[in-house]
Parts: sequence; C-alpha cells; structure tokens
Amino acid sequence: MCGIVAYIGEKDAYPILINGLKRLEYRGYDSAGIAVCNGEGLTVKKKAGKVNDLESHVGNDGFPGNIGIGHTRWATHGEPNDVNAHPHQSASGKLSIIHNGIIENYATIKEDLMQHGYTFKSETDTEVIITFIEDIQKNNDVSLEDAVRIALTKIIGAYAIVILSREDDNKLIAARKGSPLVIGLAHKEYFIASDATPIIEYTNEVVYLNDEEIAVITREGFSIKNTQDVIQTPYIQTLEMELDAIEKSGYDHFMLKEIFEQPVSIANCMRGRLNARKGTLVLGGIRNYANSLVNADKIIIVACGTSWHAGLVAEYIFEEFCRIPVEVEYASEFRYRNPIIKEGDIVIAISQSGETADTLAALELAKSRGALILGVVNAVGSSISRITDEGAYLHAGPEIGVASTKAFTGQLSVLTMIALRIAYSKGTISDRKFHELLIELEQIPEKVKSALEHNAKIEYISGLFKDASNFLFLGRGYNFPVALEGALKLKEISYIHAEGYPAAEMKHGPIALIDENMPAVFIATKDSSYEKIISNIQEVKARKGKVIAIVTEGDDHIGKIADFTIEVPDTNEVFMPLVSVIPLQLLSYHIAVMRGCNVDQPRNLAKSVTVE
Ligand code: G6P
Repeated sequence: MCGIVAYIGEKDAYPILINGLKRLEYRGYDSAGIAVCNGEGLTVKKKAGKVNDLESHVGNDGFPGNIGIGHTRWATHGEPNDVNAHPHQSASGKLSIIHNGIIENYATIKEDLMQHGYTFKSETDTEVIITFIEDIQKNNDVSLEDAVRIALTKIIGAYAIVILSREDDNKLIAARKGSPLVIGLAHKEYFIASDATPIIEYTNEVVYLNDEEIAVITREGFSIKNTQDVIQTPYIQTLEMELDAIEKSGYDHFMLKEIFEQPVSIANCMRGRLNARKGTLVLGGIRNYANSLVNADKIIIVACGTSWHAGLVAEYIFEEFCRIPVEVEYASEFRYRNPIIKEGDIVIAISQSGETADTLAALELAKSRGALILGVVNAVGSSISRITDEGAYLHAGPEIGVASTKAFTGQLSVLTMIALRIAYSKGTISDRKFHELLIELEQIPEKVKSALEHNAKIEYISGLFKDASNFLFLGRGYNFPVALEGALKLKEISYIHAEGYPAAEMKHGPIALIDENMPAVFIATKDSSYEKIISNIQEVKARKGKVIAIVTEGDDHIGKIADFTIEVPDTNEVFMPLVSVIPLQLLSYHIAVMRGCNVDQPRNLAKSVTVE
C-alpha cells in the first residue's frame, strides 16, 4: 500500500506531485506529504489526512523547485499523524525518502543506530532506512548511490523507495523489492511512481524496475544497477493506457463509473479472443502451457479478497467443464502452511493489481516447488504478471475504486474462457456444447448492460435498507460465490455487517439471526437449484425476515414471496455470476452513498495490498 511519486525535470515539481498523489490515493489515504528541492534548499510539507488536506495546508502557491518526491500513506508503523507521514529526513536533514513497503528488520537497525547516538522523530521503519543510509555514507565515505546499495543489501523486507538529497538537485535514486515502481521517460524529465497513473498524461514510455534494482536518475538520463552493483539493461515499454481511463468522466465516483463500464470492459476482455461466429477461442497468453493445462491432475488457485471469490466461481466451472479438481486457496494461508505441490502442478494466481504481497509470495512458494505458475491479472506490467510463466490479462482498464467491480467480472470472463478452451481441447465438452457456450458468452456484455438498467429500482430499494445493521447474502451453486462477493462489497464500503452464505447452510446457524429487521439478499436466478432456493426464501419469510431477491427476468413466482425483486437477464447458469453480481454492486454502492461513506476510499482499506 502507500503511493509514491517523484519528478525530476524542468517543470515545477509540486503540481505534478500533488496531482500524482491524487491519482495514487486509492493506494492509501491516511496522510500525505511532499518534499521539493531547489537551489536554495529543501521544503517538506506533510499532513495527516487526505491529499486534499495536504493541498490546503500548502496553499495555492505551492512551492518552487523542479525536483521532488511525494507520498500518500496507508499506515503500517506508527499511527497516521503529521510526524509519521512521509517524506522522512535523515538525521542531518540532508536526505529525504518516500517508501512503500515494510522493513522487517528495522527494529534491530534502529537499535544499533540509537546506540551510535541517533534519535528518531517518527515511529516509522522508513526514517530508520534513511538514517541508516546516511550513516553508511558518512562512515564509509561512499557516494549516495553506493550507500543506498549497501543499505539495501542489509535490509530485510519489501520496499519501493525514492531518495532526494538537498545537496544535489539533479539526482533521484529509486529502488524496489517487492513493492512496485515504474519510471516514466520523457525529454529531459523523468517521473517515478507506484503505478503508471500519475505518469500517463506526460509520457507512455516506461521502465518497470525489477526487484533489487536501483535506478539513478538525472535530467540527462538514467542508469540501473542491481544491489550486487551489476549494470542492468532497462526494458522500455510503451503503455496503451488512456488518460480518460483514470478519470471519473462525469460520474460521482470511480466505483460507479467502473460498475457502468462493465459491458465494455467485459467485451474488451473477450475481444480478439472469442469469436462465436467462427467458433474460435484463442488465449495467446497461455498458448505454450495449453497442453499442461489439458493434462493437469489438479489446479490450485491462489488469490485474496474479491479475486478469491472469482477463484471460487472458477473452481465450479473448471470442475464442471474440464473435469480437473481445483483447490481455491487464500494466498495468505497457502503461503504459510506446507501445501502439497508437485513438480508440474498448475497454480493460477488471480489478482487485479498484480501486486498483492500474499498472492505474490504464494506464487513464489509454488514456483520454488516446481509448479507451473499462471496469472490472471489486470494491471499490465505488475509484479505477478512478470513472475508468472504465462497468463492472461483482463484488459479491464485501470480500476481505481477500492471496492473491486469490473476486475471481478473481467476475472470471471478470463477464467471462463480458459476453462472452455481447456475443456474443448481435452474433449470434456462436445463441439456443439462448446459452440453454444461461446455464443452465450459473447452475449454477456449486452446482458450486463440490461442488468444495469435496473439501477433506479436498486437505488430505491437501497433507500429502504440503508439503515440496516446487518445483511445476509445467500446463494447456491454458481451464485454462492456471488453471495460472498455481495456481502464483501457491502461491508467494505458501507460498514454494514454482512455475511455471505450458501443458502442451504443457513439452517446451520445464520437462520438464528433472522427477524423482522434482518434483510436477506437471495441470488435466486433460474438455475439447477432454483426450486431449492425458493424453499430457503420461504424459510426466511416464515421468520419474518425481509427478502430482496435477484431473479431471472420474467420470474413472477419469487415476486409473490419476496419483499422486493431485482431482475437480471437469463443466461447459462455457468455465466450467471457475471450478470447476477451487477445488482449487488449497485446495491452496496447506493447504500454507502446514502450513509455518507467515502465510496472510493473506504476507511482502513487500500486497493493494492503490498504488505502481508
Ligand atoms: C484489496 C482490495 C480488494 C481486492 C484484494 C485483492 O483488499 O481492496 O478489492 O480484491 O485486495 O487484490 P488483488 O489486486 O490481488 O486482486
């Protein structure tokens, strides 16, 4: 978590840094700060709160200088206050640093430095790093670059850092391990950031730093070495991201924009891959490992949060069509037990950001045991996309709202296509079935569009339930993971306690919670468990619970039992999660807005969880 941004060039750094922080604010938003250097010295301003609070604190004039660093924080060490906000300074005040990540051995280093007389203003691990670097430089009489390199060989943990010295206003030093960092290249100016969103309006030529690489950047150029002091050849990439994709484009919130983008983002995900008329489904990203997938004895899926829910849906689809056993694991659990992974096993990581620390670590573990690792990732060039053997991007475009929406449907689309592709090659579905499914899948963007047309009704229903203290989300089969996702969405952004459950499990516990104040959202579309879920709805109604049911268009039966129904178009039950999740995203959105919550930046959360 935390977003970092830096600039060196001939323009005023402050406006570039403050706008960059606004774009990165989804990564953390409990405090922010900027340091800018000019011929006369270094100015540092930092403030607890949002980037807007920092902006008001600085005032309209900003501060002059054309080299600087900025940070928006998600606190790990030390509470969010002005002192713990970044940038941090070395003991002499000469060096400033911004940092995203966690230094695990900071306490030992700090103790050692304190024994040598250093004192610290903040409680952060970051102040320890910069003090350590300054101490190394002083004691060894080495350049700042060398001091940074030596320090990094002794530091354990994750970091993306940028360092600025007030004695040299023509140099930034950036390094990463475990946390992302990208350098934007333009004429006599460079931009450094946690992701490309603050960079894209200035340049689309970028270099993603690799783990344990250190870049030294001046206005005249840049060079990269690794922590072993070996020169590295940068790989310059051209990004295709459009500025429009990272702006709200007239919507009140990024989340709403992203919900409404789904007909297009799902179509983009299928574009060039799925052609129902020709009966083709091509996934170039997994071409080389197609045979391994077809012959796999087992597939392990690792993910966190919403991505884990997409993994659960994938489990059902893979088992149904490919007849391959699938295990879906929370990455944070998988990495700390002793999972059984054989040489050649397939591990698929699902991740919107491609940076989630636990998912990354789970993949590293799987790789070290000889597994073939694949990624289903949205963020192009991210760490997971780079360490995996192969994979498929979602092509959903940047997702800024902290609560994931279009990434979820993008993940489902990619995983469905992978499953159908394997099943077809493996012969576990007939040619006819394959073609029928392709035709149906291709219609999903239109069906999502129809589901979105019920927004006004969903907003009305949200108004009736906005003050509830608890919610239950219930579904069966393919709609069970959707129930989990609906509950997570509501919790995340409206702070209402919500639980997702398989509808049939309700009688083993949650039914005790039902009374006239308890809303239960049933995802009750017409599928193979339709009759069963009707019985579950009756069970809730018999106990005076309030039922909101997501139903298939034209279903007039459930309407007679439930208090409210929200229709979605019919589709094959395998694809239904792509459609049935839409009303749940809208329900949580409207409830959160009505409760006055910050939808795009819910408290305590961050979009990219780069700490374990
Ligand atoms: C955070 C985000 C969630 C996301 C989860 C996994 O908790 O707020 O929206 O589902 O991380 O992130 P990933 O980027 O790996 O999908």
